[in-house]
Amino acid sequence: MKEPKRHPLVVGSGIAGLYVALRCREMGLRPTIVTQGRLEESNTRYAQGGIAAAIGPDDAPARHYADTVRAGDGLVNRAAARLLADDAPARIAALVRYGVPFDTAEGHIALGREAAHSRARILHAGGDATGLSIEETLKRRVLEGGIDIEERTSLRALRPGSPDGPVAVVARSPGGHPVTHEPRPIVLATGGAGNLYRQSTNRPFAMGEGIAIAFRAGAIVADMEFVQFHPTAFYREGAPRFLITEAIRGEGARLVNEAGERFMVGTHPDAELAPRDVVARAVDREIARSDRPHVYLDATRIPRDRLFARFPSICRFLLLYGLDPSRDRIPIAPVAHYMIGGIATDLDGRTSIPGLYAAGEVAATGVHGANRLGSNSLLEGLVFGEKVAVQLRNPRAGGPSPPGRTVELPTPTGSGSPEDPATIEVIQSRLWDDVGIVRAPDGLRAALAAFETLDREVEPATSEPPPGAVANAALTATLIARSALERTESRGAHFRTDWPRRRKIWERHVGLRSRKAGRGRR
Ligand code: FUM
Repeated sequence: MKEPKRHPLVVGSGIAGLYVALRCREMGLRPTIVTQGRLEESNTRYAQGGIAAAIGPDDAPARHYADTVRAGDGLVNRAAARLLADDAPARIAALVRYGVPFDTAEGHIALGREAAHSRARILHAGGDATGLSIEETLKRRVLEGGIDIEERTSLRALRPGSPDGPVAVVARSPGGHPVTHEPRPIVLATGGAGNLYRQSTNRPFAMGEGIAIAFRAGAIVADMEFVQFHPTAFYREGAPRFLITEAIRGEGARLVNEAGERFMVGTHPDAELAPRDVVARAVDREIARSDRPHVYLDATRIPRDRLFARFPSICRFLLLYGLDPSRDRIPIAPVAHYMIGGIATDLDGRTSIPGLYAAGEVAATGVHGANRLGSNSLLEGLVFGEKVAVQLRNPRAGGPSPPGRTVELPTPTGSGSPEDPATIEVIQSRLWDDVGIVRAPDGLRAALAAFETLDREVEPATSEPPPGAVANAALTATLIARSALERTESRGAHFRTDWPRRRKIWERHVGLRSRKAGRGRR
């Protein structure tokens, strides 16, 4: 049966995908959600700290906006940040309406503090299980709403369609035959790319596939050099790199070295609550100076009852490893956490391809500039998800403004060699070593050459079958390395040893597009 043309295909089931689908349903559309795994599997589920909104008595959206702009290190799209901060309370109200059980204190929603926020404005649920609560609540509503869901199904390609939208090619995983949909609006909510790095907080499927697929289809991608590293993931050989939320530092935990010295004091006036990029580099430096692969987060000054009530999942996890955080220091090190760049969109989630929208981590609105403020990411999924849903209900023509510098890259075509899943590990190691927290020009060039070679080998020579996961990983890694080489300065999450400072000429975004799309200018 042919799908009605306005009914969107929503790809991904994290906060952005579920929210867009729910709002579309409420507006009378009939969305279908396509998701790689089970409906509830996404990075959202593992978000700990929470979701930011200026709802406290001493707070205001203007403050939230100002903090977002300050953290973004001169590159924030101010209209996007204004929208994010202003719309946050309404999106929180929507979550409350859906039933998200935010934690309360004395009858009011409890608010925590995180780095670079000037006020306590982080809402949380289940202590440190905010993502889990949101994901489960939205999932329940999606199921109750009778929204069509195709689980274990992944987007494989986007092909030219009609003014309604592109053609999606999807496949059941693993190994299912590609199925081609009718042209229709498509919303990419496929999440980030953190798992392209050897050390990451992300789930295995977060490898930037949506970005690679959209790029091949001709979409502009932007800000790919800005990969955010989280300073505090649990470190123990062989253990998962479990996130230890920034909110613990908001409660008073301190970063210390082996000798127990607080190395953030003297590094930044806000010490442990400095912007995330500053803290991640300081931790990295301190580790390099020491003879250990980690430093410590010391939460022992937080009263035990408070620590265990506020961060139950983290405390449970640490106890499994024989650590009681009320007594023991927590070994930590930085890891890749969040992809600031992605598919360029305007504030309505429109990409440069008519009928193709993007929301959440896969999108690049410019709202985070060069460094995202913690807990603005769940929020962006809602705020820009809402705008996408409204667009889908009443579509208007539009799209992102061209980034300040747009580089055209050769159309990816290759020899179609069989994909070896082990190649993913090669990519992960190379990105971690050469396109990581600190980037040297030789490393960047070598990484780019390696990714381009890998990509040439595995990209199909023809349009059938669509590229697989390894080709998508190689292409996304290429885009990250290419952007990192392009930006000859250091700003936010992007730090280069040959250009250790910001440069005025780089107060602009770097866009990349495939040459076959042919409309861009250098
Ligand atoms: O530290 C955290 O809980 C992370 C929050 C975020 O990345 O937004």
